[in-house]
Amino acid sequence: MKIAVIGLGNAGLPLASVIADSGFEVIGVDIDDERCEKINRGINPIPEETGLDELIGRYGGKRLVATPRYEDARGCESFIVIVPLLIDEGHNPDFRILEEAFRSVGKILKKDNLVVLETTVPPNTTESMIQSWLEEESGLQLGDFYLAHSPERIMTGYSISRLREFPKIVGGVDEESGRLAFDLYRKFIPNLKKVSSSRVAEFVKIIEGSYRDVNVALANELFKIAEELEIDFHEAREYANHDYCHIHLPSTGVGGHCIPVYPWFLINEMEKREWFSFAELQRTSRKINDEMVGYWAERIVLKALDVDKPLGRVKICLKGITYRDGVKGIYHSRNLALARLLARKGLQVGVYDELFTQGEIESLSLRFMDPDDADLVFDCFDLRFSV
Ligand SMILES: NC(=O)c1ccc[n+]([C@@H]2O[C@H](COP(=O)([O-])OP(=O)(O)OC[C@H]3O[C@@H](n4cnc5c(N)ncnc54)[C@H](O)[C@@H]3O)[C@@H](O)[C@H]2O)c1
Repeated sequence: MKIAVIGLGNAGLPLASVIADSGFEVIGVDIDDERCEKINRGINPIPEETGLDELIGRYGGKRLVATPRYEDARGCESFIVIVPLLIDEGHNPDFRILEEAFRSVGKILKKDNLVVLETTVPPNTTESMIQSWLEEESGLQLGDFYLAHSPERIMTGYSISRLREFPKIVGGVDEESGRLAFDLYRKFIPNLKKVSSSRVAEFVKIIEGSYRDVNVALANELFKIAEELEIDFHEAREYANHDYCHIHLPSTGVGGHCIPVYPWFLINEMEKREWFSFAELQRTSRKINDEMVGYWAERIVLKALDVDKPLGRVKICLKGITYRDGVKGIYHSRNLALARLLARKGLQVGVYDELFTQGEIESLSLRFMDPDDADLVFDCFDLRFSV
């Protein structure tokens, strides 16, 4: 059986490689020509992804063939789509990339094919928009083809092991689609569960993000209260946590492509329906987490005032600019936002991050600073100061 994976990015390529490693022939479709060429030469375009080098080296250009042409996937029986869903400034999803990908799949779709969406989407998307794009382009009706959702739950850097160990779920837009998608996925995903519908599968992924965001907001709020009351938050947290209480760690906020984005799918939908109070906790959590940048900026300024120099001459180094420790990504990075805020205030702020070269830091319009040359160092991940 031939399986097409549409989108060979950070999420799609590890999945395509794991499918190839399970014995299937995979046609990977990606509009990025250069990326396809690299993969076909056995070169891994995501070197930081553990275990991917070996799989691309073994299958690239052989059992896993990458192509920019959808037409090359015409012979496939199943299509797995994992292209990005962009979010505009009002936090509304922009479906253009998904629409283009699904309309292209629709053009080569045949009777009895199965299509599975993996991109995280607002509830209802698979059975409404996705289904109608496929029907319009293929001239087929659901029942002639099958459609399901199986949200990607990987973590950058550990995608291969997550696909092999972490529970993955799948749900169909109808009973038969769910069953067929489950039967296919269990051939390459060992820890697979079937849920009752694609709508449940969509919701599972979103509420996981909301849970994390709300709990980080609670940790941030409790941390600020503890500081005000001169209580060691970390000591208190250690003794408060047990099987039924899991207080998260405080932070400079929540960054990345996922957790700060997904709660908006629910907030916007509830507000569109005029149920303003239904998503109030999630809206407030978003605000608390985003405002942590202002809180830490104030703390850093207060600390800088203790240095025996005029404030404008204190050299402040922020350690860590990525959105998550150990991941070279800056999308919605609160650490980056903190550095920019302090620089805008006219302070002598520089940044250091062991994942970035001096040139890379300067290309972000930030000043590079070696922590050894600073008067004050703030570690953005463990939230500690050193002088
Ligand atoms: N990366 C993660 O850690 C992660 C985790 C969980 C979920 N996801 C989900 O996966 C989705 C994709 O994320 P990603 O990290 O792989 O993005 P990415 O930007 O790394 O990759 C997307 C790929 O899709 C390709 N592409 C764009 N338009 C296309 C089209 N019309 N046809 C074919 N290919 C096209 C791009 O060239 C790119 O290679 C996200 O929107 C999210 O829902 C990602």
